[in-house]
Amino acid sequence: MTAQLVDRVRRSFSRSFSSYHETANQQAGIADRLIQDLHDSGAPQHFSSALELGCGTGHLTQLLRAEFELGALTLNDLAPEAQQTAEAFNAGFICGDAVEIEWPRHPDLIASSSMIQWLPDPVKLLHRAVSALAPGGWLAVSGFGDGQYRELVRIGSSSGAPGLCSARELAAAVQNDLEVVKIEESVQQARFPSARHVLDYLRKTGVNGRTQKNWTKSRLTQFIDDYTQTYKDQAGLPLTYHAVWIIARKLN
Ligand SMILES: C[S@@+](CC[C@H](N)C(=O)[O-])C[C@H]1O[C@@H](n2cnc3c(N)ncnc32)[C@H](O)[C@@H]1O
Repeated sequence: MTAQLVDRVRRSFSRSFSSYHETANQQAGIADRLIQDLHDSGAPQHFSSALELGCGTGHLTQLLRAEFELGALTLNDLAPEAQQTAEAFNAGFICGDAVEIEWPRHPDLIASSSMIQWLPDPVKLLHRAVSALAPGGWLAVSGFGDGQYRELVRIGSSSGAPGLCSARELAAAVQNDLEVVKIEESVQQARFPSARHVLDYLRKTGVNGRTQKNWTKSRLTQFIDDYTQTYKDQAGLPLTYHAVWIIARKLN
């Protein structure tokens, strides 16, 4: 991934680290569904070595710890602040780009929630996960599809993360080597009282790395006017989430 993009994403999530956990209710819900589906797919209760990529403040980590017995847990994130998550959940921590860092050898669980959309090529990461997984290991990964924040995209914002992809594309990336047990997607709309609330929400969840760069006052006003005029109704302003995820396992 280009150093510039990595740096921008890291700075954005570092800045929002203290506000992310309370604000990112959509991502919390996605982590919940990913873990539920891992259970429902017949994953074992015990993993001897689990790796979570892009752990952030620990929405997924918390559920992994609560729902499974993990021998060793290694967390990764671009943002150094996520070291706190590792300390809170008694896990090892590797700071850096998930694509570039060295992973623990042959984990039997690789999990990641709401991170791969920040990679220019999520498929490349999935190929790496396929090779790294121990025989019999499990993969649980969520990202976002092309309906993500479609209101922003339609009014010309460059907020789109670079690696939006469909659930089918995630499955296709691994299906030669893994048995794909679940392919899921969910489209949900959050509602906000005003466009300023939307911007505040994006800032607090670190999603503005590509949204508000170099915004002038007039650009901001234009954005607020466009969003309000295009979308406001009695229920407020919508913001669409298009989550996609797969559960897969490596055969012995
Ligand atoms: C939307 S948050 C998701 C955090 C957590 N997994 C959750 O479900 O709430 C995305 C996280 O991925 C991290 N991230 C983004 N790009 C990354 C990369 N290339 N390698 C590792 N972590 C990355 C960010 O720093 C951020 O903490």
